[in-house]
Amino acid sequence: MSNVITNIEDLRVLAQKRVPRMFYDYADSGSWTEGTYRANSADFQKIKLRQRVAVNMANRSTRVKMVGQDAAMPVAIAPTGLTGMQHADGEILAARAAEKFGIPFTLSTMSICSLEDIAAHTKAPFWFQLYWMRDRAFMEALMDRAKAAGCSALVLTLDLQVLGQRHKDLKNGMTAPPKPTLANILNLMTKPRWCLGMAGTRRHTFGNLVGHAKNVSDMSSLSAWTKEQFDPQLDWNDVEWIKKRWGGKLILKGIMDVEDAQLAANSGADAMVVSNHGGRQLDGAPSAIEALPAIVDAVGSRIEVWMDSGIRSGQDVLKAWALGARGTMIGRSFLYGLGAMGEAGVTKCLEILHKELDVTMAFCGHTQIGTVDKSILLPGSF
Ligand code: FNR
Repeated sequence: MSNVITNIEDLRVLAQKRVPRMFYDYADSGSWTEGTYRANSADFQKIKLRQRVAVNMANRSTRVKMVGQDAAMPVAIAPTGLTGMQHADGEILAARAAEKFGIPFTLSTMSICSLEDIAAHTKAPFWFQLYWMRDRAFMEALMDRAKAAGCSALVLTLDLQVLGQRHKDLKNGMTAPPKPTLANILNLMTKPRWCLGMAGTRRHTFGNLVGHAKNVSDMSSLSAWTKEQFDPQLDWNDVEWIKKRWGGKLILKGIMDVEDAQLAANSGADAMVVSNHGGRQLDGAPSAIEALPAIVDAVGSRIEVWMDSGIRSGQDVLKAWALGARGTMIGRSFLYGLGAMGEAGVTKCLEILHKELDVTMAFCGHTQIGTVDKSILLPGSF
């Protein structure tokens, strides 16, 4: 079979070959039965597109603005923890690929490379994702560091007050760096690229938490630290406090319900992301694309509504846009690219998504993404 990479699934297969199993599984799994995780992608497939012909399809553009920021397409890199374990310097490489392609990059609180690392290796402003923690002074310090690093928006994640459980992580004894058990040593021996990449790098820990979280390396110590630090008492007053303290563009991530969407719109945030955390939190929740239309109907005229969870193609991006999402975020799609081929793999992922988006838009009879709406979808299929 040919090695030519033509779609996101090819990147996933290559990443699975190259990334140690515990890190691949950490990225490519969902919580409990993984039902919501699977539905996120499967529900996109149910939505059908209307093919139009004999329309002038020259001079196409997928350019948009997300919270006022130019983007080559309505796609941003989602915040993902431990990205530097998919590939050495993973966050830096993904940020660089995003910068070159002209889309926003979001750094997770739980990244391996730090805010300062990203600032040192890129010029474009990036976004910082914050988890709500008990230690307000630490959150303030993180926001100040994000400001100093030139972050142009803060993404506040609201759906991780408690942790969803991924069985595979527990079964794999997920640790960063990997613990030298016999099974891990055998698995690492089959992943020479990853080992070579990691040799010489000291980036095996959570870069933003250095000096704050002690001994957070494996899933049980992370889960203990998270229980101790992530504040289950978060409420909308706290969101207001964050908005004031940050003072810049604020994006609320993890909204799945119309009532919450209304509260999020009232909070004065600039955008919200309809997201079930890629099926990693509440298993049994609907897919994000299923939850999207009602939320757009309720608040889409008051606030930018975006979505993530399940996007594996440019067609998915177009379907989300047609249903009213003014932006999307991608998690696993870029992680597969990163694990498969580093920066070149993330670039490949973005090229694939863009090409699929552009050509699908043309098949549906549009040259400008701004004119695309629900009318490109087959009635009854969404
Ligand atoms: C995530 N996600 C996430 N979200 C967040 O706000 N902060 C984080 O640190 C993480 N960490 C994380 C790690 C990994 C490995 C994954 C796969 C996801 C959720 C992420 O931002 C996004 O919501 C989902 O990844 C979107 O779903 P898809 O595109 O992966 O299907």
